[in-house]
Amino acid sequence: MSNIGSYEERLKNFDWSIAEKELGYKDGDNINIGWYCSDRICQFGKADKLALIWEGLGGKEKQYTFNDVRLRSNTIASFLKDLGIQTGERVCLFMDKIPELYIGFLGILKLGAVAQPLFSAFGDESLHVRLDNAETTAIITQRKHVSKVRKILEKMPYLKHIILVDYDGSKPLREREIAFNMDEAEQVENFVVAPTKAESHSVLHYTSGTTGQPKGVKHVHYSLISQYLTTKWVLDLRDDDIYWCTADPGWVTGTSYGIIGPWSLGITQCVLDTGFSAESWYKFIEKRKVTMWYSAPTAIRSLMKAGEDLIKQFDLSSLRHLASVGEPLNAEAVIWSEKVFKKPFLDTYWQTETGSMMLTNYPGMKIKPGSMGKPFPGITATVLDTKTYEPINETGKPGLIGFKPGWPAMMRTYWRNEETYQKKFENNWYLPGDRAYIDNDGYYWFIGRDDDVINTGGHLVSPFEVESALLEHEAVAESAVVAKPDDVNMEVVKAFVTLKPGFIADDDMELKIMNFIRKKLSPLAMPQEIEYRDSLPKTRSGKIMRRVLHAEEWGEEIGDISTLEDD
Ligand code: WTA
Repeated sequence: MSNIGSYEERLKNFDWSIAEKELGYKDGDNINIGWYCSDRICQFGKADKLALIWEGLGGKEKQYTFNDVRLRSNTIASFLKDLGIQTGERVCLFMDKIPELYIGFLGILKLGAVAQPLFSAFGDESLHVRLDNAETTAIITQRKHVSKVRKILEKMPYLKHIILVDYDGSKPLREREIAFNMDEAEQVENFVVAPTKAESHSVLHYTSGTTGQPKGVKHVHYSLISQYLTTKWVLDLRDDDIYWCTADPGWVTGTSYGIIGPWSLGITQCVLDTGFSAESWYKFIEKRKVTMWYSAPTAIRSLMKAGEDLIKQFDLSSLRHLASVGEPLNAEAVIWSEKVFKKPFLDTYWQTETGSMMLTNYPGMKIKPGSMGKPFPGITATVLDTKTYEPINETGKPGLIGFKPGWPAMMRTYWRNEETYQKKFENNWYLPGDRAYIDNDGYYWFIGRDDDVINTGGHLVSPFEVESALLEHEAVAESAVVAKPDDVNMEVVKAFVTLKPGFIADDDMELKIMNFIRKKLSPLAMPQEIEYRDSLPKTRSGKIMRRVLHAEEWGEEIGDISTLEDD
């Protein structure tokens, strides 16, 4: 039996107080995510249970119990306090996926400061834009990344402290720098956790919009309520699970479900800090006996590309449950995972702004491969008419996804940008900026970003649909589909593809793929052009950035591409 039991039963009389009760929280109480993820778990007799199993390059390994996490987060909080960091100040985490990142996150929250996680792969420009917008007071980083901070230091008078977690004394510390060794510091047994309330600011995540600078998404401690319950019901975590969330905490998935969700439930999680390779991932699952695996479509497609023979070399029988987030999960990938892992990847849909899962598939519920599933209980969702913003009461008709505001983890505003925040609402619905349709059984099907849908001769074509179909072609490894300007039809479909090894990128192949799509979908959806690429532009979280290709096609400014990979 899964944690959620029956989805239909859960919908009846659902109330977020279910989570409040389980967490022992009452309206008006103090609520602090840092405390909930460490002290409270220890109080339940799980102090000696493993909280984190970490593996880095060269097989380096570290393990921390919940008591270790409690002590170390106390120690970090106390260190920051001694530096003079005040409640509400932003403290940036700028590190690889090392234990200090995960535990430091809790420490910042215990102090009542705001955690601002950023991808360590960001260059100095990307870093500066985000630190500047947040007027960040302190940054916790590693030696290997500090040069990027030093480079922009002059421009950041508000940044008072640069904390190095791996300082080895070989070179003198520079201006504003201070060393802190989490494991070797004298551990603080008792730290008075900040009396944060439901609406106290907790996390500031930066997300790239379609235009302009990245926006800071403001979250509060009350987000725990939905992060806890979605983790329990969708990721279906149980006491003896070994959970692996592959996301970097520089991205919301890596905090909501890579720290807060699992640890508030007292679950053991493991982290692999070595980058991606199919072989190392399978090895990790085998070695750690991972039972629950939360990953992303691009990774899954890369695994598909690596082939099934590789899988046969590993014992992956520990896997009990799989889920995915971040971009459309193609039906192909779901069917493939059922075949090779004997479990389907359950698609979950949400975004930085929503803070927790919104539309998802549930253990035990019928899976329709390619669908995002149904609204999480407590979430009122719909599809809205693009002009009137009224719910469309017709199944199968595309429109804008809309959510009734007010779930616990919803962003409270864009940092210092209330105006843009207000633009996210129409007719009392929150608009995530995506299009979908709902089928006869109430399942949601993703069409595309609001700005990516292709209008060809008055017909809307979903890039996702074409991409999915392309992936079904034997030669195609990855695909991105964008609109291309056209005199007659206004827009036509253009596809960028990478081919699997052994296939030749020539005109003959282009014709074959075009015909494949024409037959599979329609002449309208058939790409008028296929451009071969060695790789497709992706965000740090692995999402293919159609926007970059779209801009290229239309000769437009690309905008903020700071989340792109370097390669
Ligand atoms: C897209 C990710 C299709 C969508 C946690 C959304 C998805 C944006 C899915 C948010 C999915 C996320 N199917 N599209 N299952 N999940 N998206 O803020 O466009 O990085 O609005 O948060 O990714 O991306 P973000």
